[in-house]
Amino acid sequence: MRKPFIAGNWKMYKTVAQALELVAGLKQTLGDVLTMELAVCPPATALAAVSGALAGSNIGVGAQNMYWKDEGAFTGESSPVMVKELAQYVILGHSERRQFFGETDETVNLKLKAALAHGITPIVCIGESLEQNKAGETVSFVGGQMRGAFAGIPAEDAAKVVLAYEPIWAIGTGLTATPEDANRIIKEAIRDVLTAFYDTATAEAIRVQYGGSVKPDNMADFIVMPEIDGALVGGASLKVDSFTAIVKNALAALK
Ligand code: PGA
Repeated sequence: MRKPFIAGNWKMYKTVAQALELVAGLKQTLGDVLTMELAVCPPATALAAVSGALAGSNIGVGAQNMYWKDEGAFTGESSPVMVKELAQYVILGHSERRQFFGETDETVNLKLKAALAHGITPIVCIGESLEQNKAGETVSFVGGQMRGAFAGIPAEDAAKVVLAYEPIWAIGTGLTATPEDANRIIKEAIRDVLTAFYDTATAEAIRVQYGGSVKPDNMADFIVMPEIDGALVGGASLKVDSFTAIVKNALAALK
């Protein structure tokens, strides 16, 4: 059984003070949730404070990006050694990093190997653009992103990866894939590719989140899908009420 996993991607929002206020609230509303894995991914400037505030709690902490080298002259970057001090997870290859910061399948692959080597759980984001979706290229494109990300990674490491299927056109737009479409794409472009790359056991072990305008009122429809194991939540993770309602609605739907 794959343990459901909901993570909040705060993107470039929240000062340290705002971040601490949000996690104080989440500890109160979600502190007793044990059947689902939970994490928040603050901006790098708030990682240390949030990590301290959530120490010993059931809510994990993730970074939103990292470089693949342990140290060096790489101005502005954070290394896996540094991330590991503060976080258990790292988001890799988010579409905003691919779009605005030059992230490619090759750099995602290097970062993925570095995360696994350092015992950080990667949340690898993949997903197609609106044009690709309309042209019927979703499965081939996402399958290609998968093959690029997992190149050279052995099966025992691959099983530790979390994937987030995030159609780019659904991120921050209020639009979502239908739960049925998301489920089908995860099957055809993710699990079938993993089965071909590794084996059925590895493909079945890996958790796949859906991301893209997840809100309290649509979470249940996604989480009940057999291939969907949770969510990566952007905008709706920035408030105690909405992130709490997403988690509670998912828990209720799984009962
Ligand atoms: P959204 O963002 O929930 O605001 O659409 C999701 C994401 O980018 O991970």
